[in-house]
Amino acid sequence: MTLEIESVSPGPAWPQSGVALDAQPPKVFRLPGVYRPQEDSMLLAREYLRSGLAGQGEVLDACCGTGYLSLIAAWSGCPSVTAVDSSLRAVLSARANAAVLGGRIDVIHGDLAGLAGRRAFDTILANPPYVPWFDEGAARPCTKWDAGRDGRSVIDVLCLAAQRLLRPGGTLLMVHSAISGVEETLDALGREGLDASVSARQRIPFGPVMRRRREALVRAGYLDPCQSLEEIVVVRASKPARP
Ligand SMILES: C[S@@+](CC[C@H](N)C(=O)[O-])C[C@H]1O[C@@H](n2cnc3c(N)ncnc32)[C@H](O)[C@@H]1O
Repeated sequence: MTLEIESVSPGPAWPQSGVALDAQPPKVFRLPGVYRPQEDSMLLAREYLRSGLAGQGEVLDACCGTGYLSLIAAWSGCPSVTAVDSSLRAVLSARANAAVLGGRIDVIHGDLAGLAGRRAFDTILANPPYVPWFDEGAARPCTKWDAGRDGRSVIDVLCLAAQRLLRPGGTLLMVHSAISGVEETLDALGREGLDASVSARQRIPFGPVMRRRREALVRAGYLDPCQSLEEIVVVRASKPARP
């Protein structure tokens, strides 16, 4: 078993975000099979750093993977960071990263929905799985990125849970692909009483998963046949300070 280590910079916002951040971006360790922080993680990190939310309040990193976003929150000065992931390997990686890199992060093994009603946070950062998965051949869905036929199985859980996971006045920042339905996310959060809008967008070349699944995504109407770029968005949703 190998442990991969790499340095992942959120990009232009690093380290000039106006909060007390180390000049070096986090170098994350990950056990095999754990999601490598990539463009979606970095877009969310940049958006968080420029959102006015960094460095304050109690933060939940829902679907934490290596804990990359938790580290950014901890390093920005947040007094309390909790991370949750349903994968034990992700949890072990995030705990190792927190221990080695010095972020005080409480990493919980479990389903993010299990926290709803038990804990509440000022900020939620979420990069959930969001790629549509089609039951083609023998391959099983990968819990790192596959999220049901419409790519929304975890997004919808988060939209439903956000209202209970946020304190009054709290904010959710969630990244996902536009192919998983931006309007659906805004509507779902709106139905829960949150004020939601898109706060960042980025076009990126298809990664390996999208390239492999391209034909099935075209057949299902998620992609145009000549499309080679995917749009990812950050949705920002706020819970009213008073009900
Ligand atoms: C796209 S990865 C994001 C990892 C990390 N936040 C990042 O940006 O690098 C999604 C993560 O969500 C986890 N996950 C999937 N379903 C979950 C659930 N219902 N509750 C908690 N974690 C979940 C997966 O194990 C995976 O680590």
